[in-house]
Amino acid sequence: MPLRVDESESDVDREDEQQALHEYYVLGLEQSRLDSGPGLVEFERTKEIVLRHLPDARCDVADIGGGPGRYALWLAGLGYAVRHRDLVSLHVEQLTAASAGRDDIDTAVCDATRLDLDDQAVDAVLLLGPLYHLPRRRDRLQALREARRIVTPGGPVFVAAISRWAARLNGVLVEQLYRHLPEILDEVERVERSGELRPLFPGSFTGYSHRPRQLAAELRAAELDVVDLVAVEGPTALVPDLTERMKDPIDTQVVLEAARALERVPELLGAGSHLIATGRRPAH
Ligand SMILES: C[S@@+](CC[C@H](N)C(=O)[O-])C[C@H]1O[C@@H](n2cnc3c(N)ncnc32)[C@H](O)[C@@H]1O
Repeated sequence: MPLRVDESESDVDREDEQQALHEYYVLGLEQSRLDSGPGLVEFERTKEIVLRHLPDARCDVADIGGGPGRYALWLAGLGYAVRHRDLVSLHVEQLTAASAGRDDIDTAVCDATRLDLDDQAVDAVLLLGPLYHLPRRRDRLQALREARRIVTPGGPVFVAAISRWAARLNGVLVEQLYRHLPEILDEVERVERSGELRPLFPGSFTGYSHRPRQLAAELRAAELDVVDLVAVEGPTALVPDLTERMKDPIDTQVVLEAARALERVPELLGAGSHLIATGRRPAH
């Protein structure tokens, strides 16, 4: 069923969206997504972007929409105490199994727009997923306001988005999805107009894609100061043999250095798959 973006929609539409999201994530693809190729670039780059603004002191960090918990496990390994939340019970079960015996990771099923965490419960928030699964602006702002509510004043909020042009650049140009999904060639123009990623088949990825300036504007609308906005992969996402290259240590360094060097070039911000905006709850 197509997702619509009309702001006047009822709760039933939100249920349809969540049904589509579950149909995709129940396939279990998230567990290994960050292990190779484009996922590995995303993982390495996201970690370095987060470390730039994460408090040094080993404090409490919320990982909202944390998937199977790759970032939660990484942060706990660095000494942070992690509050992990995700809408998909499979992901919470996977992290529960992976973190068995640890007392520094707390995980639960929870909606990013209605968090079960107290005001100022944590010193930093990762919101690396929910924003690109919420097609309505009001829901995205609600998720951002929830992140702002739970972080201490002055604390960072790291917000990931999918680039508005990822459907064409990655889906059509690089992955050639049109070979088994010809309708994507008509769909892609609509995605670029509306941002909305509708389900093209049962179990397809659904959600929302941002323009870079729009992402920054949404953080500000949620009363977060924008301290940085970078492309995660940038044009490296367009390298056709990226999976092979990421198996070689020198090629890997060249790819990561290119992503780093181009991360703030305004003309190239939307050229990769993901953006990360770093927001900060104002100190007063
Ligand atoms: C592509 S995964 C990203 C997982 C991980 N944060 C990462 O960056 O690899 C997106 C995650 O966001 C979660 N998610 C989407 N909408 C959500 C919401 N409203 N509340 C909580 N989690 C949500 C999904 O269940 C999924 O685990």
